[in-house]
Amino acid sequence: MSSGFWAVVPAAGIGERMQSDRPKQYLQLEDKLVIEHTLQRLASHPEIKGIVIAIAQEDEWWPTVSVVVSCPLYVVHGGEQRSHSVLNALDKLSTLAADDTWVLVHDAARPCLRQEDIDRLLSALSNHDVGGLLGLPVNDTVKRTSNDDVIMETIERRNLWRASTPQMFRLVILKSALQASREQNITVTDEASAIEFVGLEPVMVEGHADNIKITVSTDLALAQLFMQQQRGEG
Ligand code: C5P
Repeated sequence: MSSGFWAVVPAAGIGERMQSDRPKQYLQLEDKLVIEHTLQRLASHPEIKGIVIAIAQEDEWWPTVSVVVSCPLYVVHGGEQRSHSVLNALDKLSTLAADDTWVLVHDAARPCLRQEDIDRLLSALSNHDVGGLLGLPVNDTVKRTSNDDVIMETIERRNLWRASTPQMFRLVILKSALQASREQNITVTDEASAIEFVGLEPVMVEGHADNIKITVSTDLALAQLFMQQQRGEG
């Protein structure tokens, strides 16, 4: 069985915050759909051997997309939460790749990922025992409020990061960490949280600020601007 690097793309979200007629990964961004950009950026990295994507069971859009990528692409059904979608993809990957394979989990809704950011992650973590993720240092002052928006505290921003993706862990470690979180009903919103939950210590690797997640409609214009800048047009 192969080891090396594989990508897992959770794409089974319905994107309620976007308020559009379709999930955000199927919105048009320049000449392609968001999801096509994302898959092509992963597939075109020379170290990525293949991709497993998780699509919602009732997804009517995916069958209409003609994705052309330069590596094997496998499709599984997603689950109720992001972590369930990732776990389904890892189950499939276990039939294709060795236990020590590095898995890069990347949100379908982050179409601006640079090859350079993948390189950074690979060179920072390939010899690491646990793995880690791309993130950005928090630049703003951070407040915690009560449910009725009254400020309860100001949080020291030093050493605070915004977690993004890809998040890179060994297949067998990530799978057992996600299973453990699921069995104990712990909600994890990223892979690193599951790894932390089982007592391991992932590493943060600083990425580029343009690796945004399309969440609200104004993000599409921003993603287009970042793509133009990446081509040297900005
Ligand atoms: O909702 P959010 O923006 O955090 O979703 C991040 C990624 O996880 C998206 O690519 C989305 O499609 C995916 N997701 C999933 N299964 C779910 C929920 C979200 O694959 N049940």
